[in-house]
Amino acid sequence: MSETPNRLVTAVILVAAGSGQRLGYGMPKAAVPLGGEPILMHALRGIVASGISSQVCIALPAGNDGLRRLCEDFREELADGGPLLTIVDGGATRADSVRAGLDALMDGTDAVMVHDAARALTPDSVFHRIADALAAGAEAVIPAIAVVDTVKTVKATAGGGSPAPEVVTGTAPREDLRAVQTPQGFRLPTLQRAHEAARSLDPQQSAAVTDDALLVEMTGTPVHVVRGSTQSLKITTPLDLILAEGLLEGPLGARWVEG
Ligand code: C5P
Repeated sequence: MSETPNRLVTAVILVAAGSGQRLGYGMPKAAVPLGGEPILMHALRGIVASGISSQVCIALPAGNDGLRRLCEDFREELADGGPLLTIVDGGATRADSVRAGLDALMDGTDAVMVHDAARALTPDSVFHRIADALAAGAEAVIPAIAVVDTVKTVKATAGGGSPAPEVVTGTAPREDLRAVQTPQGFRLPTLQRAHEAARSLDPQQSAAVTDDALLVEMTGTPVHVVRGSTQSLKITTPLDLILAEGLLEGPLGARWVEG
């Protein structure tokens, strides 16, 4: 069982139960091939290679025997020496999938990182930055990168979309903005409390919860930010898949600067 430097026993909840509709493959995103292997396998190998976790709890689409078998084969491949691999059925929403993972963690777990299978190429360095911040005392820590686009808020144009469908309502100062990634790391009781509190949200509020850090923010606990990586792209659209294939083949190698 591997542990982080200050002996925090850390588990990773890998959420892989999404439908992947935006990728357009007609199968769950975790099963879509990337460089000859399902996206899920890249994510799993990345977590295990980072050496930060005692347990990896994978939330899969309920009833997906193919993905379950893949995880079971990987468990055998790891044999002893690797983290404990636990498989759970994911839920209707991402938060439900995280909660299913939380319910399956081993006794004695101190910290948990929630990671999207869709960020299958996340480098080791990001896992380690999160682990280091937790070890240094953070209750919650997320990886993020600077935003390169100017970001504006908009609303639908009154009066039937003429002369254009939306109108600008504001421009956020770009230097204050960060694009947030996973793995997101938490002391276990902090994340458990946040998910417990989330049970009282109404459906509209629940739909607006796109990451775990938001739930922790709602409880008033500070969420710390460390440097993420552009390599941790969230494979969502066909263009992302092309980028990920490119990264795997390494043509950017000589020009690659972790950002
Ligand atoms: O849908 P979205 O892009 O936010 O999904 C982010 C991650 O959450 C993906 O890895 C997806 O598999 C996972 N997810 C899940 N259960 C759901 C919905 C999404 O595990 N019900």
